[in-house]
Amino acid sequence: MSTLFETTTINSLTLNNRFVRSATWEGMANPDGSCTPRLNSLMEELAHGHVGLIITGYAFVSREGQAAPFQLGAYSDDLLPGLTEMTKSVHKAGGKIILQIAHGGLFAHSQLTGQEPIGPSVMMTEQGPLGRAMTMGEIQRTVTAFTEAAVRAQKAGFDGVQIHAAHGYHLSQFLSPYFNKRNDEYGGSIENQTRIFLEVVRSVRNAVGEKYPVMVKINSADFLDGGFNVDDMLQVTKILENSGVDAIELSGGTILGVYIGNFNISFSRLGDSDVYYEEAAKRYKKEIGIPLMLVGGIRSYDVCKRLVVEGVTDYISISRPLIREPGLIKRWESGDTRDAECISDNACFQPGIEGKGVYCIHVKQ
Ligand SMILES: Cc1cc2nc3c(=O)[nH]c(=O)nc-3n(C[C@H](O)[C@H](O)[C@H](O)COP(=O)(O)O)c2cc1C
Repeated sequence: MSTLFETTTINSLTLNNRFVRSATWEGMANPDGSCTPRLNSLMEELAHGHVGLIITGYAFVSREGQAAPFQLGAYSDDLLPGLTEMTKSVHKAGGKIILQIAHGGLFAHSQLTGQEPIGPSVMMTEQGPLGRAMTMGEIQRTVTAFTEAAVRAQKAGFDGVQIHAAHGYHLSQFLSPYFNKRNDEYGGSIENQTRIFLEVVRSVRNAVGEKYPVMVKINSADFLDGGFNVDDMLQVTKILENSGVDAIELSGGTILGVYIGNFNISFSRLGDSDVYYEEAAKRYKKEIGIPLMLVGGIRSYDVCKRLVVEGVTDYISISRPLIREPGLIKRWESGDTRDAECISDNACFQPGIEGKGVYCIHVKQ
């Protein structure tokens, strides 16, 4: 029977337990995306808190792909010294860390990038058109940017990479017919919508070699009218089965929900259910063989245990509770299995947006 604190492997990576810190934008990098001592000590704290696998906040793979202020970058070799410091401090603390690599697509932050956002297609909004459709050259340049970022991760000592294809950012936009209105080979059918993602996965795999852990994060559904649904997710993950992906993290919703103030369709949905994407995970496990990390709303130790024992997921991925309590996993391991203190209200975003770094604003009792 699988247990939460057993040792497992993902490709060449050995993990001490089944807990993953889901990628979390910390808002703690320098304006140019380089690491800061504060960001590195947070990673070290998570390692000391016995998180089995730390996934960094999303790191932008090219200047034009930056999506948030004080976001970590992976777009240049100039960033290598800081990234190397990060992996060294985590490894010294006995932890494992992988770099999440991302492009904002239509949700790139044009005030920060100084460029018009680009994505699969122009997006019509109530405020007018947003961004423009990428040219073939730009698509190929983006594949290269993801690949170079993955190689940088390897050079900096990360234990793997996670390609961000969830939450309505670039690759997730291509996957979803809500955003992707193309009628060339990158749109119009699920195979075409998956093409750029598959090109990124294959190109990264080629560049980092067979032994290096390459993971992806995708949506179970984006909850948008005419968007990406669970059947689409199953088709995409089936395509990925032969692509050399080592693990899949299943999430849901989009950043669009955050823009329009509706957290119910965002990736950090408020809701009654404990485990936001459990039904999708169950369908995934029935059909797909790639190890699964499930994220979203998981707050109770007993629920974590149930999910692993029942085979709903292989790994438990958690974001907001670790903002509140970086030592949560160690606490659970020590036998104090009270629920995570996090109340999932997303108030932690605000200090990040204000440039103070993401933290839990609620006073500890
Ligand atoms: C402040 C904040 C920043 C986030 N940044 C990222 C990110 O960089 N990449 C990503 O894939 N998801 C990001 N997420 C989403 C989380 O990884 C996670 O999928 C979501 O919060 C649901 O999990 P939870 O209920 O355990 O918080 C972020 C969430 C929060 C609250």
